[in-house]
Amino acid sequence: MVGTPPVDLAAFVEASPPGRRLWLRGAGRSLYPLLRSGDSVQVLRCGPEALSRGDVALVRVGRRLIAHVVVSTGPLVTASLLGKGDPAGVPLGRVTALRRGWWILPLPRLTRSSLFLGQRLASTLWSRPLARGVARRLRDFAFSGWSRPMRTRWLGRLEVRLLRAEDLDALLVFAGERLLVSSAFLRRQLLGRWAREGGAMGAAAGAFDAAGRMCGFAFLDSYREEGLALDGLWVRSLVVAPRARRMGVAHRLLGCLLEAARKQGERRIYADVDEDNVTSVRTFRRRGFRFASPELIRRVNAEWDASGGSKPLVALERIVDGHE
Ligand SMILES: CC(C)(COP(=O)(O)OP(=O)(O)OC[C@H]1O[C@@H](n2cnc3c(N)ncnc32)[C@H](O)[C@@H]1OP(=O)(O)O)[C@@H](O)C(=O)NCCC(=O)NCCS
Repeated sequence: MVGTPPVDLAAFVEASPPGRRLWLRGAGRSLYPLLRSGDSVQVLRCGPEALSRGDVALVRVGRRLIAHVVVSTGPLVTASLLGKGDPAGVPLGRVTALRRGWWILPLPRLTRSSLFLGQRLASTLWSRPLARGVARRLRDFAFSGWSRPMRTRWLGRLEVRLLRAEDLDALLVFAGERLLVSSAFLRRQLLGRWAREGGAMGAAAGAFDAAGRMCGFAFLDSYREEGLALDGLWVRSLVVAPRARRMGVAHRLLGCLLEAARKQGERRIYADVDEDNVTSVRTFRRRGFRFASPELIRRVNAEWDASGGSKPLVALERIVDGHE
């Protein structure tokens, strides 16, 4: 699952006084394309009375932070760009700017009415199965077989391997664009565990194009590192950049992690995936993963629910070669 390690960012924001401006990462990507996984938001701490329709509000739902459009103020209801409305949450402030890399997009209050109207239009369209089907088909078409030769030429030879300490910068750039995981977490894990001299614990694998840019990533680690009470090593944050999809990158990333698990003497590894993420489930199944027991699936969902996760998950497991 592509998730945020449950670091308590929400508590940090709530402890900040009204009027304070803060930059945060990990406020979700449901305002896509306005907000992507690795983007940061600038938040002005304020109460619900300072929010109006069309503002982007930062809201705490469980332990999760989301930045969504205010669609009604009495009572306060927020929604993603394509969604109908969120479960009730605690409003923490108003988003005043977005940052992607060096690029900062201010969100002045002048944009309120266009955001409100845009949200209404997009969510009404998205509620129609036909529109959703067309959008999916267009996306699949763009990254399917016909464009593969073009993309292959553009990317050059792809190298897929375990990450080393010197890959940190490339990893942070990729994470900034595509992952919800914090840079501090990745830095700590890469230097302290995955690429540790004299014996790694867990592992991280990356795919690089001919220019050395990272275009795919996944890591294998204990969920206890992220505060969840689940045993064993889990594949986390498996993401391939759209330009490198359907070229076998995810298959090779999982192969690297399986090999690392074998060397570390693991008998079995696990993965959890959003139940409706058919592509991802297929990717794991093609690598020999099987659905885990209903009991484990129940525990994974319970752990994520307790940390503010909202989507049903499936858990998969695979015996590591040599341990059949
Ligand atoms: C899920 C995801 C990681 C898969 O990555 P990927 O690199 O495209 O996966 P692969 O290339 O290994 O396999 C994808 C498909 O391409 C096909 N394929 C791979 N190489 C191919 C080739 N050279 N020629 C033809 N088909 C090929 C595979 O058979 C597979 O087909 P299938 O889906 O019908 O089974 C990617 O779609 C992604 O990043 N999604 C968004 C993030 C996400 O959902 N992550 C999972 C969270 S757990």
